[in-house]
Parts: sequence; structure tokens; C-alpha cells
Amino acid sequence: MELSDLSELNLQTSDWAQTIATPAYVLDVAALKRNLARAAEIKRQSGCKILLATKAFALPAAFPIMREVLDGTTASGEYEARLGQEEFGREVHVYSPAYAPGEVERLTKLAQHIYFNSPEQIIKNLPVIRRHPGLKIGIRINPGYSNATLGGALYDPCAPYSRFGATRDTLDRVPWDEVEILHTHALCESGHEGSVALIEHVAREFGAYVRRVKVVNFGGGHFINKPGYDIGKLIAAINAFKTEFNVDVVLEPGAGLVVNAGYLVGSVLDFHHNEKDIAILDASASTHMPDVLEVPYTPKVVGAGKPGEKPHTYILGGKTCMTGDIIGEYSFDQPLNIGDRIIFTDMMQYSFVKNNTFNGVPLPELTVLNENGTITVVRSFGYDDFRYRLG
Ligand SMILES: Cc1ncc(COP(=O)(O)O)c(C=O)c1O
Repeated sequence: MELSDLSELNLQTSDWAQTIATPAYVLDVAALKRNLARAAEIKRQSGCKILLATKAFALPAAFPIMREVLDGTTASGEYEARLGQEEFGREVHVYSPAYAPGEVERLTKLAQHIYFNSPEQIIKNLPVIRRHPGLKIGIRINPGYSNATLGGALYDPCAPYSRFGATRDTLDRVPWDEVEILHTHALCESGHEGSVALIEHVAREFGAYVRRVKVVNFGGGHFINKPGYDIGKLIAAINAFKTEFNVDVVLEPGAGLVVNAGYLVGSVLDFHHNEKDIAILDASASTHMPDVLEVPYTPKVVGAGKPGEKPHTYILGGKTCMTGDIIGEYSFDQPLNIGDRIIFTDMMQYSFVKNNTFNGVPLPELTVLNENGTITVVRSFGYDDFRYRLG
């Protein structure tokens, strides 16, 4: 998304940004609903199920809206499964590359679909599985297909030596009679080309195994709400796959459901000059936008341009001690002032779920921008949230 596309966002009036306490995440309900409408269309035309991957976005306040469209949640372990069961309802799926002692037994009370990472894991857990006849068991396979569009090997589930999914040479050891779901997750911020290619790859290379199951879960990474993603192509690929194999299909995107659906608003706390102008914010890359450093990438700022594009250029940084706590370098029409609000866009995916309190930096408020332009504060954080995690 280019800065000029910001009119697409719900920012015609950003008065709320001037009055909101900062730092704050702001879920834009209108944008979320627009994203969900595309998910609903994919479901309607393909008959697939769509789950929310709560690892990317877990805001219970948004779940009532999401629950109207989505079939449930997919978790990365016990706690997320519990969150899905207690706060979202509907189906709970769970996959982890390894389960802690007793975790699978506990998961049987939280999830109806448990996915394993290898034939040996399923075999080891057969006693638990057999004690719960209603449980649906999945095997995650490594399809040997890479399409991650960002972060290189860091975000490619099929990178060399990946610990995710049973490799092809192990699949004949899977106790297929126990398995209902074949699962594969190989994408990351992928366009429809990636989604379609993955589906066709699995059909071509793993057809014999697909015929052993009732459901195929094509994982996450389908960037269905990114401009340019042609959902018609995805729908056609799912329909062709279902016709060929007579199976149900599940998708479990996270980012793709909440892309461009909210903001992180920070304030300018102070300035520093060291050859360049630096604005220090109450929002931090290290604590509030870890993907900015991990991917890495430079988030968009409402009203700002690239360095030098507008008259006043600043490096924006957080107040932690980490030298690399730099969000990026931007230019503005007017000089910044202390107290000015800085609105970072596309801040709902893998943002607040990854927050930390390094340096005792306050956690941003969680807020919702309602369709009528009002803000609801879902949760504010304080010293206690920092203190309790320290024992
Ligand atoms: C197994 C699995 N499913 C779904 C997802 C969600 O992916 P995304 O948020 O890219 O759609 C992930 C992300 O890591 C994943 O590991």
C-alpha cells in the first residue's frame, strides 16, 4: 500500500488520533469488516472453512464480529487453544511442532482438531487419541514448496532444515487410519499465485496421501486482503482440488484477515540531533513493532513521505536503550512538535501479540475505532503489567 492509498483507510477524520492516549493500537472495525467480507466470499464460492490463526491477531473484543464469518480459530499450543475455546467458540484447531508433557491430554478438552508434526508424534500419542474417539487428528506435512514473500528463510516454513512438518520420506510411516486432516503451511504474505501453486503442488505431489484423508488444511499465509490478491483464482483452485479429491478444504490465515485493519498511534516525546534530526516516540520498534526489526521493514506513517521527499525529515525511534530501536526515517510537510501524533498503518498483524515490556516501556492501550468514529478503549496497561511478569 502506498501512502496515497490511505484514503482507503478509515482516516477521513482522524480526530480520534489527536485525543487518544498514546501509545495505542487502534482496530478499525470498518476495515476489519471489509476484510471479513472477502473471507465470506471465498467461503461462499468454494465451500471451504476459514479459521483465524490467533498467533497473528488475538483481540477478543473483535471476536464477535469475526465469529459471524469465520469457522473458528487455530492455535499454536495450549494457551491459544484455550483462548479460542473461551473467547471465540466454534471450532478449535491446534498445531505445534512439539507438545509439552501432558499438553495433548489437556488439549483434548480445548480443541476438537489436534495436528501433529511427525508420524512418531501421532504414534506416541495414540493412547490419548484413542481415549477420545471424537477427536480429529491432523498430520502436518512439509510440502517442499516455498513461496514466502518476505523475510527470506526466516519466514519460509519449508526453508532448509525446517522443523515444521513431516517430510515426504516419512509419510508412509503415518498411521493414516487415525488421521482425518492433511495439513500444510508453506506460505507467508503470499499472493493468489502462491496459494494456487501450493494447492496444485499438493494435488500433484501428494495426491496418494490426500486420498487417505477427509480434509486438507492449506494453512496460512494466503494474503487474501492484500490489494492485487485475486480471490477468484483461489476459489477456482480450491474447487478444482475438492472435485479431484472429494475432500473438504480449510484455510487458516492470520495476517490476511487483518491486513490494513488498524494502526499504532504514538506521540513525539522529544527530539535529538546527531547529524540528523531524530524524534523520540512513546511507540517503540523493539517493544511494540518487533517485526519492523525482525523482517525487517519500514511501516507507513499517515501523512509522511520517504526521507527528503517532504521538507522536514526525521528518524523516528523509540525510548528504549537499544540503539537499533529505530522505526524508520520519514519526511513531513511541517516540522514535528512535541506531542504530535504519529499514526503507523497496518499494525494489527503480529504486533500487540508480540509485545514486551523491555526497559519497562508501557504497553500500548488496545482500542477500537467504531464505525461511527468513536473510540472504545478495550484495555489500558500500567506498572502492574510490567511488574507481574518479573516474578
Ligand atoms: C501453522 C500456521 N498456520 C497459520 C499461520 C498464519 O499465517 P499468516 O498469519 O501468515 O496467515 C501460521 C503462521 O506462522 C502458521 O505457522
